[in-house]
Amino acid sequence: MSNSHTSVRIAGTGSYLPERIMTNADLEASVDTSDEWIRTRTGIRERRIAAEGEFTSHLATKAGLQALEQSGIAPAEVEMIIVATITPDTLTPATACYVQQQIGALNAVAFDVSAACSGFLYAMELARHSVGAGAFKNALIIGAEKLSAFVDWSDRNTCVLFGDGAGAAVLVPSTNGDGKILSSHLGTDGAQAELLNIPGGGSACPVTLENAPEKLATLAMQGREVFKHAVNAMKRASLEAIESAGLTSKDIKLLIPHQANLRIIDATVERLDISRDDVFINLDKYGNTSAAAVAIALDEANRQGRIAKGDKILLVAFGAGLTWASAVIEW
Ligand code: ACO
Repeated sequence: MSNSHTSVRIAGTGSYLPERIMTNADLEASVDTSDEWIRTRTGIRERRIAAEGEFTSHLATKAGLQALEQSGIAPAEVEMIIVATITPDTLTPATACYVQQQIGALNAVAFDVSAACSGFLYAMELARHSVGAGAFKNALIIGAEKLSAFVDWSDRNTCVLFGDGAGAAVLVPSTNGDGKILSSHLGTDGAQAELLNIPGGGSACPVTLENAPEKLATLAMQGREVFKHAVNAMKRASLEAIESAGLTSKDIKLLIPHQANLRIIDATVERLDISRDDVFINLDKYGNTSAAAVAIALDEANRQGRIAKGDKILLVAFGAGLTWASAVIEW
């Protein structure tokens, strides 16, 4: 995609993780797995689980309010809200509509983006062009997931991998001397849709009384195949965004990758000329939070002072679709 008319920067970030921690030891009690297997195969030690009455929109709202506070933009001034999620509160309306109401952003248009783990970066690209073209003065983008509601808790192949959470960022036009989003790259391969999906609960396969025991409205994944595609796509997407920013890997101060599996991150980093010390990792604490993962990691890196003004950072993600996405940002 071409660059926007006006450059766009990130004016604030936020995140929210539910209070309840589920450790690998907790999972040992319910499925045939072990802390050792989960740690060595994925790097995950624990994940957060939303409370019963806590929905994706509630997580998104908390992250969104934090990002707005840091940006100094009041809810009533927000012009666009995009929520990236594959675990919406309801199939319709969009989760962004609930967030608009909960935040009190009554002047904002609000809609969802469904691009799985790449969703936050897809939302960022849409917002960048909308704000850059002057159609909207600002945008609040949020990645939020309550994956615990769409996991088969008796399937050890998937239930150990996922967690709940939300991350957010506010995008505004960039003026001289500010940082900006330098480049991005998005891609999709619908031919691989079967590798990772939630087969039931949509129009293709509604959940009925008869098929309810099959738990079709839960995540199904061919893990090994997804793994291979993930490493290739993350590498390619990273290089595309770095190159179109006119940079080399050496210029990247911090890589913020999708937090699915430490082995995927390590294999990707090996193929890029980026030091392992310059990679932000928090999947040990949260597991894979799909669209929220890059957004939460960006906020944590920002608040921990891992990013200084002028630093070039690379965000890259990969997920169901298959989808992949990357962005290089000058902070
Ligand atoms: N505990 C213990 N054993 C397990 C578990 C578990 N939780 N899960 C699987 N196993 C067993 C399997 O049954 C298999 O046993 P077998 O050899 O007797 O058949 C063995 O462990 C090895 O299984 P593999 O699937 O080959 O394990 P692998 O090393 O590939 O790791 C994993 C599995 C972690 C899922 C990995 O393939 C992976 O990370 N894939 C990518 C997932 C991903 O990145 N998804 C991202 C997108 S998510 C989104 O978009 C929403």
